[in-house]
Amino acid sequence: MPAIVHSLEELQGIRETWRSAGESVALVPTMGSLHEGHKALVVEATSQADRCVVSIFVNPLQFGAGEDFDAYPRSLHADEAFLADTLVDVIFAPNVEVMYPEGLDAAPSLSAGRVGDTYEGTSRPGHFDGVLTVVKRLFDYVNPDVAVFGAKDAQQLFLVQQMVQDQNFPLRIVEVDTVRDSSGLALSSRNAQLSETSLAQALEIPRALEEASHQPSAKDARNRAREILESAPGVGVDYVEVVDPDTFQPGGDTGVGEPARLIVAVTIGGVRLIDNKLLHFGQ
Ligand code: PAJ
Repeated sequence: MPAIVHSLEELQGIRETWRSAGESVALVPTMGSLHEGHKALVVEATSQADRCVVSIFVNPLQFGAGEDFDAYPRSLHADEAFLADTLVDVIFAPNVEVMYPEGLDAAPSLSAGRVGDTYEGTSRPGHFDGVLTVVKRLFDYVNPDVAVFGAKDAQQLFLVQQMVQDQNFPLRIVEVDTVRDSSGLALSSRNAQLSETSLAQALEIPRALEEASHQPSAKDARNRAREILESAPGVGVDYVEVVDPDTFQPGGDTGVGEPARLIVAVTIGGVRLIDNKLLHFGQ
């Protein structure tokens, strides 16, 4: 059964015990409302290190005005129960004062740079600055050897990796593939906010990704996915793009066998959903 830790002092006390015993530590940052996607990260994390910390914190800095910060599901008790049969040692569940003791307005924000202003960042200005700010703080607090992130949030993963490289953080980032339900829909805490009709409409997302993966080029893949999503009832398309996975720059019209990442964001029944797929052409 994982220990629930709310304070920084307690977290750092436990961390120090592990350090003096020479034990390695993996961190899985989350905003809670845990599902099988998160569990896949946890399973990977517990296989990568002696100890595992899962953080649960709905980070106000990564939500813009008018976004769903207040409506974002919070379920610490259910999350504890969900992790009961895992090898997680500590659930770190700080409140805003613990995470940002200087106050939200005074917390120095990190910049996610140019890639942080594209795609998710265009629709959600400042979102990735907030993500990197909290992730960096979690790295400082937990001091992990390994941190595990999902490919579901490909742009976030790219930016975290870039930050770790640029700032030479002494830790490894491990990526876990997107976990989907039996109909192909990527698991997301936000799926709980979808009505039955919206859930059915959301199935056009995995269909678009799948159809795109059979196209001969990045351009065809993007066009096919766009066509499917733009003609899907109830689906509002934000973006459908193909990017180079190494730079997150648009295009991806790379050579034969070079991977490209198709990224999509849509709104269905007022809920924003993102998904992506790594594509390989000419094979
Ligand atoms: P959250 O949305 O809770 O996601 C936590 C982690 O779980 C992220 O690394 C995300 O990519 C991964 N994840 C979510 N759904 C997944 C799925 N279906 N398959 C595989 N992995 C999945 O992402 C965040 O929280 C926050 O931005 C955070 C990094 C915690 C910073 O606040």
